[in-house]
Amino acid sequence: MALRLSSMINFPTHNVSSKPHTLRSPRLCMASTLHSISKETENGKKPYSPPKEVHLQVTHSLPPQKVEIFKSLEGWAEDNILVHLKPVEKCWQPQDFLPEPESEGFYDQVRELRERAKEIPDDYFVALVGDMITEEALPTYQTMLNTLDGVRDETGASPTSWGIWTRAWTAEENRHGDLLNKYLYLSGRVDMKQVEKTIQYLIGSGMDPKTENNPYLGFIYTSFQERATFISHGNTARQAKEHGDLKLAQICGTIAADEKRHETAYTKIVEKLFEIDPNGTVMAFADMMKKKISMPAHLMYDGKDDNLFDHFAAVTQKLEVYTAKDYADIMEFLVGRWKIEKLSGLSSEGHRAQDYVCKLPQRIRKLEERAQGRTKQASMVPFSWIFGREIKI
Ligand SMILES: [Fe+2]
Ligand SMILES: [Fe+2]
Repeated sequence: MALRLSSMINFPTHNVSSKPHTLRSPRLCMASTLHSISKETENGKKPYSPPKEVHLQVTHSLPPQKVEIFKSLEGWAEDNILVHLKPVEKCWQPQDFLPEPESEGFYDQVRELRERAKEIPDDYFVALVGDMITEEALPTYQTMLNTLDGVRDETGASPTSWGIWTRAWTAEENRHGDLLNKYLYLSGRVDMKQVEKTIQYLIGSGMDPKTENNPYLGFIYTSFQERATFISHGNTARQAKEHGDLKLAQICGTIAADEKRHETAYTKIVEKLFEIDPNGTVMAFADMMKKKISMPAHLMYDGKDDNLFDHFAAVTQKLEVYTAKDYADIMEFLVGRWKIEKLSGLSSEGHRAQDYVCKLPQRIRKLEERAQGRTKQASMVPFSWIFGREIKI
């Protein structure tokens, strides 16, 4: 899922310190991307994707005593978070939705899948490929969770609730990219080699969520993202149904249901943080929103289009798979979910953060309406994923 928010809207900023919850100085360093230090190859192309952004990176912004909160929540997480995981034996697997390679009817099943896919327009496939690529960069997201102080999987097989959650969450998520990838391969509608190159570039580039090794920021980010993916997979499900492909609708809908369950778990963690530390949590929420939620695949590249993410996001916006309105809706949902308006006993800085996040959805909507009001020049953009065919954005 993705959104070209940064180029569509300039978010209002507010006098909320970007590091309000720190007692010690966070470490700062310049983000050095692989690309900026990469050497040009013989044909003049860089071996890695081009630089997208370089900014000040902040690390370890949560003070040690707050890191302790997460250690003390081990038992709570076992009783309240791990229950949102599904036992493997009860989980769906990609094979449940795909032609059976061992069966006599395999070729017929593939033919039927391809017949159904023929009715679906190119722009839908661009959105679905982008969603699949986003899912396929899962190593990056597991890495991101394991950057967070106090909850990271210290050994790779840590018996802590946080370690168990992260591994099992990753294992559940792994089915999403797997299923979409196999479906797209069988559909015959996309240039698989270009898609695969994009995945390799993206995993090589990573992501920059600006979560500062800070689990407050990290879990606010994941709460937002799980809901965003729930919305976007839900929309691709609805649209597949409209195009008459009920099996694809079922695929996307099933993935959306997983995202919803994950959203429930992550929003519960943040709800608990609001209970323990309302001031620190509301300031973290404001900080995260002020920095904007960058989409997980924001560094995507296919070896050809330097603005691939923006172009993909323009397609999802136009198709209404994921839009600026959805961003505002998610924001509003989280404000309600965490009962931000009802928080009391906050410091003056906490009050400012509360005010900022409560007003933000409305502000985003106004800016979006204004952006919509401006007449935009439609342009045709080629996507390598669909053999260089052009999409109107
Ligand atoms: Fe997913
Ligand atoms: Fe997810």
